Amino acid sequence: MQKKWWMESVGYQIYPKTFYDSNHDGFGDILGIYEKLEYLNDLGVNLIWICPFYDSPMDDNGYDVRDFFKVHESFGKLEDVKKLLDRAHELGIKVIMDFVLNHTSDEHSWFIESRKSKDNPYRDYYIWHDGKVINDKKVEPTNWGSFFGGSCWNYDELTDSYYMKIFSNKMPDLNWKNPKVQQEIVDVGKWWLDFGMDGFRIDAVSHLDRDAFVDIKNAKDKYPLDWHKFSNLPKVHDYLKMLNKSLFTTNDALTIGEVGGQATIKEAIKYAGFNSNELSMVFNFDHNWCNNLFDITNPKKLKTNVVDLKKTFNKWQHAFKDNGWVPLNWLNHDQPRLMSQYGDYKFPLQSGKMLATALYLMRGTPFIYQGEEIGMTNYPFEDVNDFDDISSRATYTYELEKTPDDPVRALKVASLRSRDNARTAMQWNKEEFAGFSDENPKVLVNRNYKKINVETQLNDQKSLLNHYKKIIHLRRFSEFKDLIVYGSYEQIDIENEYIYVYKRIYEHQTLLVINSFSRKKQVYQLKHYDIKNIVISNYDKQKIKNRELTLRPFESIVFEVKEKL
Ligand code: GLC
Repeated sequence: MQKKWWMESVGYQIYPKTFYDSNHDGFGDILGIYEKLEYLNDLGVNLIWICPFYDSPMDDNGYDVRDFFKVHESFGKLEDVKKLLDRAHELGIKVIMDFVLNHTSDEHSWFIESRKSKDNPYRDYYIWHDGKVINDKKVEPTNWGSFFGGSCWNYDELTDSYYMKIFSNKMPDLNWKNPKVQQEIVDVGKWWLDFGMDGFRIDAVSHLDRDAFVDIKNAKDKYPLDWHKFSNLPKVHDYLKMLNKSLFTTNDALTIGEVGGQATIKEAIKYAGFNSNELSMVFNFDHNWCNNLFDITNPKKLKTNVVDLKKTFNKWQHAFKDNGWVPLNWLNHDQPRLMSQYGDYKFPLQSGKMLATALYLMRGTPFIYQGEEIGMTNYPFEDVNDFDDISSRATYTYELEKTPDDPVRALKVASLRSRDNARTAMQWNKEEFAGFSDENPKVLVNRNYKKINVETQLNDQKSLLNHYKKIIHLRRFSEFKDLIVYGSYEQIDIENEYIYVYKRIYEHQTLLVINSFSRKKQVYQLKHYDIKNIVISNYDKQKIKNRELTLRPFESIVFEVKEKL
């Protein structure tokens, strides 16, 4: 296996709008990230991924790009990005940005041209299709649904035609079959790599090809959402091989594709196997919903399906063990907060530390999501107008249609899954607005910032933040660093529904990582091992008697061991 710099990195994801407001306008910005680089350096991360800061009408918070070469005014200027890159590089921190290439904004100049007429030179930059006529009425070319609700086609009067958009109406999909589009995207990528970016998180990358435009049969919904119609289709791989050759490899760029929840292991290896010549890694979401979240409305009823979670991680760890590399992330800007998802509200500190240990000692490159390191939680939404995110509003509408006389239920359901949970202001200190901004912030600030914030935790040796630092230190600088990065991974007792145990082995070293996901006492047998050391734990004074380890609620402990023969 060829070793790469990013295998030894620890990543951190930044949602710029809510990270830190340096210019007092109530929104986070690029210079806000610049000002917090010392914090990130001290945390120990050496790779940051920044979500979109392109110029955009912000229908989908910047994933709707109006101009690839301009920074949105609330985020700052191009020279701010340069300043950020220079300082990050001085500190030894690499920077990657979101590369959005499935769609643009409808306000992008290509689309403005494309809509004008059927013979406009930009017409084929997007996917246009005539409608069907059924009973003398014009309808969409197919009944396919979109991710943000409704049809995946939008009608445009100007040319009496429909364009495809698998996200919002304001996000028309690019037509990747057109070689001119491919070249434009190569040019955009090249421009940013030349500017100093170290690579990309590639947005919605599995959707670049479309199935034949045929209706989905026997559907219950008017616009059924069937991912197969626009996910992981064969041509995506041709496009990625082209990008790899003409852009990524030539510029030694790190690339992590978002392939969502539908890519199988086989498909993922095609994208990111060592010999695939496509991407460095792919983000999947298989581990994000291993609980009963979709069946409940009361967050206190949430229950993690530990066996399911273990099997999911095991599957990805094993499939990629000799063939490729995986990112390790609990969540991103599209999911609820980790503490509100798999953490325990009665044992926040213990469960938070346990979750960090459980994931970030696996084989792969960690990506910590902003605020995760201090245990930020979901937002207590009180009204549908609290939602900024277009898809949270769509979920609310969809749920309300199911029970029109119960808006409270619809709000609860949408709140539990809302992407806005992860998009509240970063909680820096106890001061007003959580130290995110000194002006009235234009983003949500969770009321619990006096309890959960960076400053308090930096001063507390036993905090979650300091536990994250220790884990990062172990990965990057300790005597176990090669083992944690390159060692093998072996999960044991996979059917145990409370404890997640795995071994990492490298040359003469073995680590045994034991994590309890239970509020109750659990017992684990250590008779097969000679314990050499305790490497990290989240409780004092371990309870080991006659080689039996008694785990307290959410206890996590990592031993250096020697296996007894
Ligand atoms: C990805 C992004 C998400 C965005 C979507 C459309 O899934 O993570 O935030 O809404 O793509 O660009």
